[in-house]
Amino acid sequence: SRVAVLGGGRSSEHAVSLRSAAAVVEALVAGGHEAVPITIREDGVWCDAAGAFGATAAASLAGALPVLAACDVVLPVLHGAPGEDGAIAALADLAGLPVVGCPAIAGALAMDKHATKAVAAALGIGVAPGLLLLPGDPVPSALPPVVVKPTTAGSSVGVSVVTSPDALEEAVAAARAAGDAVLIERYVRGREVQLAVVERRDGSLTVAPPIEYGVDEGDVFDTSRKYDGTAVVRFPAAVEPGLEAALGDAAARLFRALGCAGLSRFDFFVTEDGFLLNEVNTMPGMTPQSGFPRMCRAAGLDLPALVDELVLVAQE
Ligand code: DAL
Ligand code: MG
Repeated sequence: SRVAVLGGGRSSEHAVSLRSAAAVVEALVAGGHEAVPITIREDGVWCDAAGAFGATAAASLAGALPVLAACDVVLPVLHGAPGEDGAIAALADLAGLPVVGCPAIAGALAMDKHATKAVAAALGIGVAPGLLLLPGDPVPSALPPVVVKPTTAGSSVGVSVVTSPDALEEAVAAARAAGDAVLIERYVRGREVQLAVVERRDGSLTVAPPIEYGVDEGDVFDTSRKYDGTAVVRFPAAVEPGLEAALGDAAARLFRALGCAGLSRFDFFVTEDGFLLNEVNTMPGMTPQSGFPRMCRAAGLDLPALVDELVLVAQE
């Protein structure tokens, strides 16, 4: 197929997205597809290899639409908002173009960590107890240790672990700088275990073997650790078969409940008493350092096979 691959975007994850998109383009070409790479600059202007489609975001989007329409399918490899929040799926939907991955509603729900937790809780899946702070709300006297995070940013941007009460104010300010609403959650002592879910051409879901990230007590698996190669990774994760099955079942139920399509990654904390959902990524990182392609490879889908499956499912 002829596939428009979108990368970059206006989010704080612009640079990660460019690396994910480059890996996806390479995998598409390796699988015999034709990739049409399109970059959304940090100022929102849409470009291809020949240059910008217009001088402003709006003009360039109008210029890019016919290019998208000339492709068989749109593959948005955008992390963060606008993009991973369903904005591109909505655009493709309005234009009647097949799009890889989650529809707008799933992207929007999963982009909001508070909304995601509400869906998970309704399914009986555990979540960290937390408090939602709206813009202008006073900073509460939450008892540390807590994690302070913007409800919508990705790659841990604006996230901090607070272990002393006087650090709370600063942490909330940092989170507010990265997003409007802020979540203050009880710090979960546990291991972070992530699961990849892929929708297959027969409609079934493949849940890949989980990956585990280790961090030191009171630490956070932060932006630089995610991409500088210093993360302690255990793959496959050291979880016993019963727990792996329960995590897989929770991930698959969340995939359906959120209305996901194509792919998503489900991030859990595994504690001594079970597991809690942390968050859902509807366009997980696809860089060579990312866990998602690694998990899929172990499930028999290397990156060319994965993108081939996704492109096919999107066009069904
Ligand atoms: N938001 C980053 C890209 C991830 O979850 O992989
Ligand atoms: Mg994320």
